[in-house]
Amino acid sequence: MNSPHADPSGSSRLTVPFHGQPANAPQGGMPPAGAQDGVAPQNPQQHAPGNAPYPAPPPNAPYPAMQQQPQQYGGAQQQGSAAPAVMAEGVSKVYGAGDAAVHALRGVSVGFARGAFTAIMGPSGSGKSTLMHCLAGLDTVSEGRVRLGDADITGMSDKQLTMLRRDRVGFVFQAFNLLPTLTAEQNIRLPLELAGRKADAGWFDHVIDVVGLRDRLRHRPSELSGGQQQRVACARALVARPDVIFADEPTGNLDSRAGAEVLGFLRASVREMGQTIVMVTHDPVAASYADRVVFLRDGRTVSEILRPTPDTVLDRLKSLGG
Ligand SMILES: Nc1ncnc2c1ncn2[C@@H]1O[C@H](COP(=O)(O)OP(=O)(O)OP(=O)(O)O)[C@@H](O)[C@H]1O
Ligand SMILES: [Mg+2]
Repeated sequence: MNSPHADPSGSSRLTVPFHGQPANAPQGGMPPAGAQDGVAPQNPQQHAPGNAPYPAPPPNAPYPAMQQQPQQYGGAQQQGSAAPAVMAEGVSKVYGAGDAAVHALRGVSVGFARGAFTAIMGPSGSGKSTLMHCLAGLDTVSEGRVRLGDADITGMSDKQLTMLRRDRVGFVFQAFNLLPTLTAEQNIRLPLELAGRKADAGWFDHVIDVVGLRDRLRHRPSELSGGQQQRVACARALVARPDVIFADEPTGNLDSRAGAEVLGFLRASVREMGQTIVMVTHDPVAASYADRVVFLRDGRTVSEILRPTPDTVLDRLKSLGG
């Protein structure tokens, strides 16, 4: 696992756009003023959650579920019938003690809708990785609660958390974390096999097609490009059909084209498979692939945008001093 400090991305990445245009970028420029904030999507038809039947719906499927009215950033007071896939309620995280204490999170309440792609942005040190690690059960909170589906993970034992991460959570990190001696296919199947589960054949095939790895399955990581390796890492996360995939700077080590590819199929996994994704990124273009962007500053949620575009994200970052 990467430590929160192992993330070398800096705000300089803000100026390096990806080439590919995200499929949800509005045609013809900026959306109307006021269309971004706190407004439910016009077509909130619900995508099925991660266990949806496949094959996928047609490519012109409606905008995915945003099953919550953002209120306290989709936190505890959220409306609507469906509970979020994962949520933080008043989460604080303090590293160290006394004079050396670092308040990485200060009372964060935020929910992440099922079947939606959410980006978390904010300046370096604002608490993005810490929040993601707390949401994923990789780190404990100092105060508050984290709910993953119907489970309150806050009081879970290490063993329970290990099982939860194994069975219900997927990870994609900046470093691809593939085992070099295994083929792409073996890497993709490994977590399920370690868990004593077997990938459903039809689902495995579907994932492989979505990530476009059919002709690379027998290659080892060293025989794959960076983008292909990250696609293997994404397929490895997707194939287990986790409740949530957490991605921390998944495009941080990729060039713009490979980054666009990875982002494109992360989006496709949300649209076509109903996957829930929470992604930390510094890049406004990467964030614009998401359905929603949540902004952190100094360990607090300070803003959010629905249906982001690179321009609206960049403007918001500037206005937040990020
Ligand atoms: N294990 C730790 N021990 C002490 N302080 C930590 C630890 N992990 C994170 N921090 C501190 O908590 C704050 C938030 O860190 P975090 O890694 O969550 O930020 P970030 O928003 O992900 O930053 P970046 O964009 O640089 O990755 C920072 O001040 C960081 O130095
Ligand atoms: Mg980080």
